[in-house]
Amino acid sequence: MKPIVTLAGLVLAAASAFAQAEPIVIKFAHVVAEDTPKGKGALLFKRLAEERLPGQVKVEVYPNSTLVGDATEIQALRDNDVQLIAPSLAKFEQYTKQLQVFDLPFLFDDIEAVNRFQKRAKGRQLLRSMEDKNIIGLAYWHNGMKQLSATQPLRMPGDAANLAFRIQPSAVLEAQFGAVGATTKKLAFADVFGALQAGTVQGAENPWSNIYSKKMHTVQPYISETNHGVLDYMVVSSTRFWMGMPHKVRFELEAILDEVSYAVNREAEELNQADRERIRQAGTTEIISLTPEQRLAWRERMRPVWQQFESDIGADIIKAAQTVNR
Ligand code: LMR
Repeated sequence: MKPIVTLAGLVLAAASAFAQAEPIVIKFAHVVAEDTPKGKGALLFKRLAEERLPGQVKVEVYPNSTLVGDATEIQALRDNDVQLIAPSLAKFEQYTKQLQVFDLPFLFDDIEAVNRFQKRAKGRQLLRSMEDKNIIGLAYWHNGMKQLSATQPLRMPGDAANLAFRIQPSAVLEAQFGAVGATTKKLAFADVFGALQAGTVQGAENPWSNIYSKKMHTVQPYISETNHGVLDYMVVSSTRFWMGMPHKVRFELEAILDEVSYAVNREAEELNQADRERIRQAGTTEIISLTPEQRLAWRERMRPVWQQFESDIGADIIKAAQTVNR
């Protein structure tokens, strides 16, 4: 039987062919200020995605824990309440122990070494380490190396004894401070400034950009330039959401993310150094440079933590990370 083509049918078909589908809304939530490597990266991603996929994708960026804080953001992602987040690598412990490699103190000499590890096969493999938990790793973004701030000068490891440090929720970081006789308090990033100001903790570890953008230098009279560990991010989405997008859109977004990651990772160190200089100029904080002997003393005290977490992380991963220093 011949199909009956009515005028109304034709109009309807034409209308639906040209109808603009609703744009895919991507909520990108994070906890830091906009003028940081992650804050800028999120905004650049929004700009490029909306420029190159007009009408198809809308990106809403929520900085400063305004939509979700770091305690709930990963669960919110898995529940599809947000679609992109970039937590620090210290925040995935509940989902994979392998990423704890990034928290090991004095494992990477500098951010270039971290970069090399992230680019190599083992590093790239870790992006996929949480797919069975509905978390897909899309890219690594740098912030920078961490410095130790406190209410008193920290030159030798013993100087930290009996101080309480704010940490991210990471057993490795807890052990790292335990190794120098300090205590720790796990706090959300949004609560760090208040805790330092109130004195409920006396110290913290952060890259320069986080210290400056959250004004921590105004309540911490000393910062030791230890570069003892890294604070980097993994940009993640929920596997179901990301793989559920139309292929063409997803491929374009992945290409954009590559471009954004390149920009973030190229500029992060410069941004951190500029914030270091701003902190110095503010004059509220003494920046303490460690002598090579002092730095070695910290390293020696914290180094046993590697062994402690070797079986959780995997000896192969730690070994691969050790080969990237020059
Ligand atoms: C922290 O909690 O100190 C960091 O993870 C914050 C951030 O996202 O840089």
